[in-house]
Amino acid sequence: MPESEQESAPGGIDTTKPSVSRVYDYMLGGKDNYEIDRQVAAAVLKIAPDAPQAAQANREFLRRTVRHLAAEAGIRQFLDIGSGLPTQGNVHEIAQSVSPGAHVVYVDHDPIVLVHGRALLAVDETTTIVNADVRDPDAIIGDPKTRALIDFEEPVGLLMFGILHHLADDENPGSVLGRLVEPLASGSHVVISHFHNPGEALPEVSEQAYTAERLFNEHLGTGRWRTREQILAYFDGLELVEPGLVPLPEWRADSADHATPGITYHTFVGGVGRKP
Ligand SMILES: C[S@@+](CC[C@H](N)C(=O)[O-])C[C@H]1O[C@@H](n2cnc3c(N)ncnc32)[C@H](O)[C@@H]1O
Repeated sequence: MPESEQESAPGGIDTTKPSVSRVYDYMLGGKDNYEIDRQVAAAVLKIAPDAPQAAQANREFLRRTVRHLAAEAGIRQFLDIGSGLPTQGNVHEIAQSVSPGAHVVYVDHDPIVLVHGRALLAVDETTTIVNADVRDPDAIIGDPKTRALIDFEEPVGLLMFGILHHLADDENPGSVLGRLVEPLASGSHVVISHFHNPGEALPEVSEQAYTAERLFNEHLGTGRWRTREQILAYFDGLELVEPGLVPLPEWRADSADHATPGITYHTFVGGVGRKP
């Protein structure tokens, strides 16, 4: 790592270890990443050259689903877990373009996200960023900043983009999600995007998913490519909104989409569930 990078990094940010949010930022063409993150990204790009398109497809899925929640489902408050570094088209910008004054609570545990988030995401009294770990859902729900912006008597948009696959099986992602959904009012919506291993249906893609999983865990200590059944189980107790759980570019694509099917097309899926 160039010495100047550590010197220029905001306090609390360790530039000797790669971070999920910074590698993802690099894939999206962002500038908030360091040499150590770019080395991991280079290794990922060797096995999945279209990883940047997958990251882009995830952001486009985010744009379409948040618009859907704000415009069609009448949601005016959003809880965005594992929100990541600010980028083009942040949740509050999308939600407020449809529903001015919509409230957004961003949640992340990475110091760099908190530093940049405080500057660019927590922009006025309608948005805030909470420093919390998704593995402690009660801390998120009970945080005074969450309580100040989210009225749990009204429907909430619970956004779980690219986060549940960063929980290992023994960290019980299903019950973590359940604890977050439990206090939500009827009519709330849950959006999930998740790394997917298609198994025997697509053997070559499945092999690539296993390779990516090994690589992520070696460098970042996290990353699970789950089966369709495992991901569908997250929607238990919710009504799955059409078109169901699909590759991200297939969820109500519109004319503003750029995604092109590539290697990662079937390894990143998403869906929306409505709490009855
Ligand atoms: C791949 S990024 C996704 C960013 C954004 N949600 C999106 O989909 O574009 C995953 C984010 O989850 C955060 N994250 C990972 N594990 C977490 C945890 N246990 N608690 C809170 N945030 C976590 C990372 O810091 C990172 O910012």
